[in-house]
Formats: sequence, structure tokens, C-alpha cells
Amino acid sequence: MQTTLSPPSPNVATSAALAAPGTVQLTVNGETKTLQIAPWTSLLDALREYMNLTGTKKGCDHGQCGACTVLVNGKRVNSCLTLAVMHDDHEITTIEGLASPDGTLHPLQMAFIDHDAFQCGYCTPGQICSAVGLINEGQAKTEGEVRELMSGNICRCGAYTHIVDAVMDVVSGADHK
Ligand code: FES
Ligand code: FES
Repeated sequence: MQTTLSPPSPNVATSAALAAPGTVQLTVNGETKTLQIAPWTSLLDALREYMNLTGTKKGCDHGQCGACTVLVNGKRVNSCLTLAVMHDDHEITTIEGLASPDGTLHPLQMAFIDHDAFQCGYCTPGQICSAVGLINEGQAKTEGEVRELMSGNICRCGAYTHIVDAVMDVVSGADHK
């Protein structure tokens, strides 16, 4: 005897619950904001679409290019790969938050300018945030280590030589005032 199984009827209550926006408090560049967002909103989309912080770039949206790199509690993170709701109590820093309140650029921002370490600039916010995280980690001492530990940040313009020079200058304590 043949039995026909019908597809399970959709659970309307569950679907509605999944779709409901939730509240998340994000502290970005020292300012705390409350957002109403769907629970699956990436940190990248929360920054760009809900907080108007468009300095952080969306390249691949799949964790492969590093354009979306931000700092979470001082550690570099691909913001396309993490959900905003996971960062309620964290300090997030984006490229917009690296300069001092008086407008003085971060030494890495100065070094990138001094070394002409960009062409189109699309990867640059991610490169700089990644370099800040790299220096916080304290692991990279040589050019080879900088290249290796920043290999997750792709530059389609191929500005790698100047990027590494800029990062090495800051690693070695060169003055960029
Ligand atoms: S946009 Fe996040 S790694 Fe490419
Ligand atoms: S400067 Fe164009 S992608 Fe890096």
C-alpha cells in the first residue's frame, strides 16, 4: 500500500517569531546605539545599513577578502561573518573611530598616506583596521610576518608592497606625525 506524506504545514507562530526584529545595543567608536534589527543581521550590515558607518566595506560578504575588517575589543574581525546580536557588550572600532577626537590621524592612517599604500582605496579601511589588530596582537616583527598575518586582507589593486612598508614603519616605531 502506498502512503502519501504531505509536507508539514508551516508553523506560522515560529516563522513570525524568527522574523521579528530584536533589540541590540552596539557600542561603536565610543557611542552606544540601540538598534531594532533582525537576528540574522551581520555586524557589517548593522554598521553600514543601520548606523551609516560606510567606511567599513563589503567586498565578498563571505569572509574571503577582509574588506569588512573591524576591531572588536581590539581584535580584528571580519564583520560579514559575525552577527550584530553577538556584540551587545563589546567595544567595536571602525575606520571612522581610529583618528583622535581632535582629528589627528592614527599613525597607521598617516603611514598609509606617507607610503601611498592604496590605489582605489576600497580595501584600505579593512587593511588599516587589520593592521591595528595585528599590532595589538604583537606577533608581527618582520616583513614576512606582516605579509603572512595580513594575508586575509586582499588588495585587488596590488598595493601590497606599499601596504607592508606602511605597516612595517609603524611596527618599527617610525614617526608619522
Ligand atoms: S566582505 Fe567580509 S571578508 Fe569580504
Ligand atoms: S587599493 Fe584598491 S583594492 Fe586595495
